[in-house]
Amino acid sequence: MQNPFNYGKLAENENFIDRKDDVLLLKNMLGSGINTILVSPRRWGKSSLVKRCMNELQAENADLRVCFIDAFTIHTSQEFYQTFAKEVIKATASTWDQWVINARKYLHSIVPKISLGTAPDSDFSLSFNFNEIKDSKEEILNLPQKIASEKKIRIIVCIDEFQNLADLSDYEQLESMMRSVWQHQQSVTYCLYGSQRHMMTEIFNSSQKPFYRFGQMLYLKKIDETEWVNYIIHCFKNTGKTITDDMAARIAATVKNHSWYVQQYAAAVWNYTPEHETVTEQILDKALNWVIETNVPNFQTEYMSLSASRIHLLLAVASNERQLTSAETMKKYSLGTSANVVKNKDILIRKDILDISTDRHEFIDPVFEIWFKRLNGLS
Ligand SMILES: Nc1ncnc2c1ncn2[C@@H]1O[C@H](COP(=O)(O)OP(=O)(O)OP(=O)(O)O)[C@@H](O)[C@H]1O
Ligand SMILES: [Mg+2]
Repeated sequence: MQNPFNYGKLAENENFIDRKDDVLLLKNMLGSGINTILVSPRRWGKSSLVKRCMNELQAENADLRVCFIDAFTIHTSQEFYQTFAKEVIKATASTWDQWVINARKYLHSIVPKISLGTAPDSDFSLSFNFNEIKDSKEEILNLPQKIASEKKIRIIVCIDEFQNLADLSDYEQLESMMRSVWQHQQSVTYCLYGSQRHMMTEIFNSSQKPFYRFGQMLYLKKIDETEWVNYIIHCFKNTGKTITDDMAARIAATVKNHSWYVQQYAAAVWNYTPEHETVTEQILDKALNWVIETNVPNFQTEYMSLSASRIHLLLAVASNERQLTSAETMKKYSLGTSANVVKNKDILIRKDILDISTDRHEFIDPVFEIWFKRLNGLS
């Protein structure tokens, strides 16, 4: 029997649970032409949500085309322009002949080189000379609008891991160019999403930056524990195994309802449970140890990169201290001065280890937190 839990791939079909309000909201926003910026820590479910919404919107609107760009794999602005042009062309035509015709027709000042991709029916590659890009950036960024108005269609451009673009050496120039061209486009809507809240907030919420008020910011929440519990129980039952409500709830709660970890932990519990049997306490413990162990190499690398004073600060957070700059806490955990605390906190947030989305500081990674506590004798 195949393990019903899934992680590492987008959650699709019956593996995509809950998020009804999120689906409705995101579809409404993008469907009405409002640029939307979606933010959440890593692996909570942004990409799965956007894919789901886009599939539904496309099924409901014959005149809508969607293109996906993953900024994670982009390392230079030249690559960005090439990928942008390629994905827009790919999304607005379906055969190799049309791709070639459209690339020549809509990018006539660039003369792109086009060649068959590894899967010729669904892919191709496109490249142009860098000097040509220099003079034609605007033309490329305006490509979706040009195609949309000529074909009388609407286009949604989704850019995943958008914050990665901020690392490009000439990002500032790209940023102002994107904003100035995109804001005039009537038939194109942008869905820009990514993790690293501080980066996304800096790009879209700072009044000195070009993307200020470019669209609606949405901060994704976690999936509720009750939804996870129903899902876990259902998956076990469907595959001939049994888990109690209480144990299903403990799986979700242990990893703080973090989408990826709930799936990983539940998958391990399922693996350790023999066919036709019921989950036991021992299985829950064994599976949790496995989840921690399998993630240890990443945790260790992260841990080794931290200075002693930042580890002390994490100890204070792990011990549920709320007033990190109070004289008592600073003394108890050897945190140095309050300026040190503020600086270290900022660095831990930038390193995506801590989050301050709620009223207090929290570890972003719930399994790192469990490992860290065990390592330091806190649990
Ligand atoms: N709606 C959902 N229902 C069930 N599981 C989900 C859902 N959304 C996400 N997951 C689980 O979480 C994992 C991560 O989801 P996804 O890749 O969509 O998140 P992400 O926020 O885009 O992550 P990253 O920051 O790594 O890009 C999925 O592989 C899946 O196991
Ligand atoms: Mg993603």
